[in-house]
Amino acid sequence: MKTIAIYHHKGGVGKTTVAINLAAALSKKGKRILLIDIDAQANTTFAVGLIKFQLEEHDDLKDKNVYHLLESGTSNFIGDIVRKSQGFIYPEIDVIPAHISLIERQQELTRFSAVFFRLAQKIDKVKDEYDIVIIDTPPALDLYAQVSLIAADYLIIPSDLKPFSNQGLISVQNFIKQTINESKEGLGKLPLKILGVLPSKISTNAQYLKNTFLKQKNVITEKYKLPVMESVICERSALSHCINQSIDLGELEIPDPMSIISYAEKKSDAGIAAAEFELLADEVLAKIE
Ligand SMILES: Nc1ncnc2c1ncn2[C@@H]1O[C@H](COP(=O)(O)OP(=O)(O)OP(=O)(O)O)[C@@H](O)[C@H]1O
Ligand SMILES: [Mg+2]
Repeated sequence: MKTIAIYHHKGGVGKTTVAINLAAALSKKGKRILLIDIDAQANTTFAVGLIKFQLEEHDDLKDKNVYHLLESGTSNFIGDIVRKSQGFIYPEIDVIPAHISLIERQQELTRFSAVFFRLAQKIDKVKDEYDIVIIDTPPALDLYAQVSLIAADYLIIPSDLKPFSNQGLISVQNFIKQTINESKEGLGKLPLKILGVLPSKISTNAQYLKNTFLKQKNVITEKYKLPVMESVICERSALSHCINQSIDLGELEIPDPMSIISYAEKKSDAGIAAAEFELLADEVLAKIE
């Protein structure tokens, strides 16, 4: 089993889009996937079809989500919290959902140093049940980012390669050097291996691709000394359309999000976006196996 965190402390660079669709593409290739959402915005939880309720009283996630994995070392194991995605991909994948209450609960968790290792320890207990664990993280340098990177073997950093995203890479690198790798060493784990910066939300404009894009990629390797992944996830409207699907049920409109892989089976023009994720899945498998 290999654990991959999808992380950048810059917001909106495509972390969730990459996490969910990479999980779907790897699952389609026959890998047993566990997808963990540890961002209070719960965008991954929504995208895999676990937030189809419209009223708070139907919120069945508040007492069973990723917070509960962190809360206790002796109970609440992955098998107790895990859910199946709903309508996301066929066959459905296993998901640990997040919840908006993660924000207010961070403070109380931070008081116990054992918390930092719990996600790693609980993932380790299911190492025979999954081939790959993917963690979608918050855009922060907080506790939730920390426990994710401590638990991960590999890191993918999605980035639109724009100046602010690049400048954010310095804090990502310092965070890994100063906080993450020391904790991993304490657990007897190898340092976090950076699979690379993954160009994400990249314009398909031919001029841009020929000129600016190449320069932007060089900045990552030359200035920030980070590897750039070969795969590219372009900016494609199908990637937002597939999570904004809904079903009309009389007066109610129920969200019906799905992976780009499932969406491309219905809409042939989404095939090009799905193919990019299949190539990304191949690259990831080649680099971790
Ligand atoms: N390749 C893409 N093509 C088109 N739209 C995209 C692409 N990637 C992401 N988006 C859109 O950009 C927005 C932000 O993407 P996403 O939620 O994946 O980023 P994020 O890094 O997870 O954000 P946050 O930091 O808030 O968690 C979303 O509306 C998403 O649908
Ligand atoms: Mg996100």
